[in-house]
Amino acid sequence: MYRYNVQLKDYNSFRTEAVAKIFCEPDNIEDLRQCIADHPDLPKLVLGKGRNLFFTKDFDGLVIKPKTYGIREVPDDSDDSEHVFIEAKAAEDWDDFVRFCVDRGYSGLENLSYIPGTVGAAPIQNIGAYGSEVKDSIYEVVALDMDTLEVVSFSNEECAFGYRDSIFKRKRKYIIISVVFLLKRSYHYVPRYADLMRELENVENPSLQEVRDAVIRIRQRKLPDENTLPNCGSFFKNPYIETDKAEQIKAVYPDLPVYPVEGGLIKTSAAFLIDKAGFKGKQRGQIGTYPKQALIVVNYGSTDGNEIVSFMHEIQAAVNEKFGIQLEPEVRIL
Ligand code: EPU
Repeated sequence: MYRYNVQLKDYNSFRTEAVAKIFCEPDNIEDLRQCIADHPDLPKLVLGKGRNLFFTKDFDGLVIKPKTYGIREVPDDSDDSEHVFIEAKAAEDWDDFVRFCVDRGYSGLENLSYIPGTVGAAPIQNIGAYGSEVKDSIYEVVALDMDTLEVVSFSNEECAFGYRDSIFKRKRKYIIISVVFLLKRSYHYVPRYADLMRELENVENPSLQEVRDAVIRIRQRKLPDENTLPNCGSFFKNPYIETDKAEQIKAVYPDLPVYPVEGGLIKTSAAFLIDKAGFKGKQRGQIGTYPKQALIVVNYGSTDGNEIVSFMHEIQAAVNEKFGIQLEPEVRIL
């Protein structure tokens, strides 16, 4: 069941090198429990597809990559004919799952098409795109508590979702086993996000499939393919700032994107700030920002995660100096 001294380069989409002391790929809950019980004192890392993390050093512990697959419609004996419950196991590919839902006409996840990763990873950082977040479609998350080895189920509320945040990110002691989604059996397009509205401006009353296709087209155009240019998508979170600060910046840059969020704060665009700090398309050694999207850090061939971290610090310092805003990484650095 175990492999030793495993190279992790192929398990993180920045493709940095690091060696895991022990590596296992359990395909059922009993084996998953066993892996943890066998190594009570080792640090543990749960891996999905590694699309949102990279390594700066070897991992002196146990890497667990769950291999549980399956998608099923959950029987529902209520008389709700508008909704459907779909359960997907953690290792399912996220976009295959979205396609499964869209093919059947089930709506809720279409704006999240073409996001790399697994179903199990989706709730951890509450993936979001084009005005949707996965939390809006999650009914329940089932996870194994690594401390007690009990299977625990979290209602949507108990997941404590926030912007790129959840209880699973704050307490790294749960291994997600499956996610139950609550989707709609019908679809009605609501224009919400500028990029998507532009892509669909000539389509009258777009269907679910047309929206999925539009999202895929935008992502393919704007975002680098991790297979040819290693990256982890957005490198930083979009920052929340005070209204005063937003007004101050807007006085100089009237086109600063601003979205009011909870707590009287303003969410603004990290890409915009990085861009205006002169870092769009900038390169240091083999690391750079993507010339078409300043928020994406790309790796032109380094195997050392520390080079990515140095570049991250450089961007943070430049943005902080120019705008007085501290950008936080969205990507997990190990
Ligand atoms: N912009 C610039 N310069 C750039 C790129 C963008 O100034 O180089 C400005 C533009 O004004 C643009 C705005 O930034 O309107 C927003 O850009 P975009 O629509 O590309 O979205 P984003 O805020 O940069 C977020 C998510 C993405 C998600 C897109 C689309 C975060 C951290 N990122 O990016 O998620 O796909 O919206 O909805 O919230 C990811 O998390 O890995 C990811 C790719």
